[in-house]
Amino acid sequence: MKIFLDTANFDEIKRVASMGLLDGVTTNPSLVSKETGNFRNMIKNICDLVKGPVSAEVISTEAEGMIEEGKSLAALSEHVVIKVPMTPDGLVATRALTDENIPVNVTLIFSASQALLAAKAGAAYVSPFIGRLDDISATGMDLIAEIRQIFDNYTYDAEILAASLRHPVHFVDAARIGADISTLPPKVFHALFNHPLTDSGLATFLKDWEKVKENAS
Ligand code: E4P
Repeated sequence: MKIFLDTANFDEIKRVASMGLLDGVTTNPSLVSKETGNFRNMIKNICDLVKGPVSAEVISTEAEGMIEEGKSLAALSEHVVIKVPMTPDGLVATRALTDENIPVNVTLIFSASQALLAAKAGAAYVSPFIGRLDDISATGMDLIAEIRQIFDNYTYDAEILAASLRHPVHFVDAARIGADISTLPPKVFHALFNHPLTDSGLATFLKDWEKVKENAS
C-alpha cells in the first residue's frame, strides 16, 4: 500500500520524505489554511521535494472554473494531481482534465455509487472519507471494502485512496481490505511506529549490552 501524507506543512512533509517512506501528498483548502504563504508556491515546493503525486484542490464549483483552475495548477509541476469535489460538475471536470492527461483525485466520496461514477469519469484516484463516516455512526471501512469489490469486478484505472484516517487501526484495516493508498495526518503516520514492547525490548538490550561491552571488540 502506498503512503501519502495528508498535510500542507512543508516541514512535516520534509521530515517524512527523509525517511524514504513517502509516496505522495494530499492537501485540501482546510489544510492549506493552516499554513502561511502563497498556495501555488506551496504546491510547487511540495512537488519538487516529494517527486510523487501531490493533490491540489480546486475552489470553483462549476466545471468550467474547475477545468481552468486545474490546468493552471497542473502547469506548476508534472506531479500535481487535481482534486475536484464529487459533484456532477466535478465529474465533468474530471473527464475534461483526464482527456488532457491531467490526473484527477475525486474527493469527498461517501458512497460506493459515487466512487463508481468517479472511476467511470476517468479519475486517477477516488478518495473515500472514512473518519467522517465513523463520526456519524456509519462504518467508514465498509465503504473501502465495497469500492474494492466493485473496482475488482471491472477494469477501472482509479486507485482507492483511503482518506480521513484518524488512527493506526484505520491504516491497518485499509491495508487488509486492499486500499491502494492511505493518506495520513502526520500525527497518525508517526503513531504507526509505536509499540511499548519495542521500547522496553530495546531498553533491555542496551542495558544488558552495558554489562558486556568491554568484551565486545
Ligand atoms: C483527503 O484527501 C482529505 O484531505 C482528508 O483526508 C480529510 O480528512 P479529515 O476528515 O480529517 O479532514
